[in-house]
Amino acid sequence: MHSIWQRLPHPFFAQGASRPWVVAHRGGGAENPENTLQAFIHAASLGVDMLECDVYRIADGRFVVMHDAHLDRTTDAVGPVVLHTTETLRKVDAAYRWARPEAPDAYPWRGRGVSLPFLEELLAQFPLMRFSIELKQDDPTLAAPLVALIQRHKAQDRVVIGSFGHRVIQAVRECAPTVATQATRRETLLFLLLVRLRLARFARPRFNAFAIPQKSGKHLTLVDAAFLRAAHYHGVPVHVWTVNDAVTMERLWRMGVDGIITDRPTLAMAGKQLIH
Ligand code: G3P
Ligand code: CA
Repeated sequence: MHSIWQRLPHPFFAQGASRPWVVAHRGGGAENPENTLQAFIHAASLGVDMLECDVYRIADGRFVVMHDAHLDRTTDAVGPVVLHTTETLRKVDAAYRWARPEAPDAYPWRGRGVSLPFLEELLAQFPLMRFSIELKQDDPTLAAPLVALIQRHKAQDRVVIGSFGHRVIQAVRECAPTVATQATRRETLLFLLLVRLRLARFARPRFNAFAIPQKSGKHLTLVDAAFLRAAHYHGVPVHVWTVNDAVTMERLWRMGVDGIITDRPTLAMAGKQLIH
């Protein structure tokens, strides 16, 4: 099913888990309130291979786990998350607006004390779990404190760090050259261009994985057989987001992708059992 790997993947991707990986996107936001401890606990209990989370550095320097720049869509508060402190965010109901896709008017977790987690709490709560940590701010000054936090938790071998932004990831690589990183948007598009020009063997990737959608917009296909071959030639696994239906999961698995990033980890774990 998989192409030949010409170079070995980063050790982060070589250890333990059986491929293809199931990655719980925001902990599995279709099954539990996204980016909350409840979601991460549930996904971990299913045996997923990695938890994906998004982080912002807030006013007092801590990293809060949250997808949107503003609190409005998911919580009972409003406004930019980065202006808050730990103290004010502790009072926020992180599950206030979450509803199951099949029951959009019910809010089963509202008012039950679900708070926004902080990154160090996740790393401490799941000492053996792999994390994909997405930095939502393209700010190079975040690299040193993030790396220090990861090192304090001795988590440098069980995290991969990504961002759409290029500057912050470059800074992470300078601070921690051995920690795994994902391709930024710019790096993905450059690699795709080389694939299309049949020049991918000349790429010199500084990244250790792709975490990308199969298509960018409606028309630009990123992940196909040629892209997978080229990525694997360089020892770079390809994880695809956000895949929430069984048909697409199976099609991508059969194509040879290395990981599915999904809001529905229960469905993906059941599918993974079937394909083995
Ligand atoms: O790794 C990127 C993936 O998580 C998709 O982006 O917007 O859901 O954080 P987003
Ligand atoms: Ca993300």
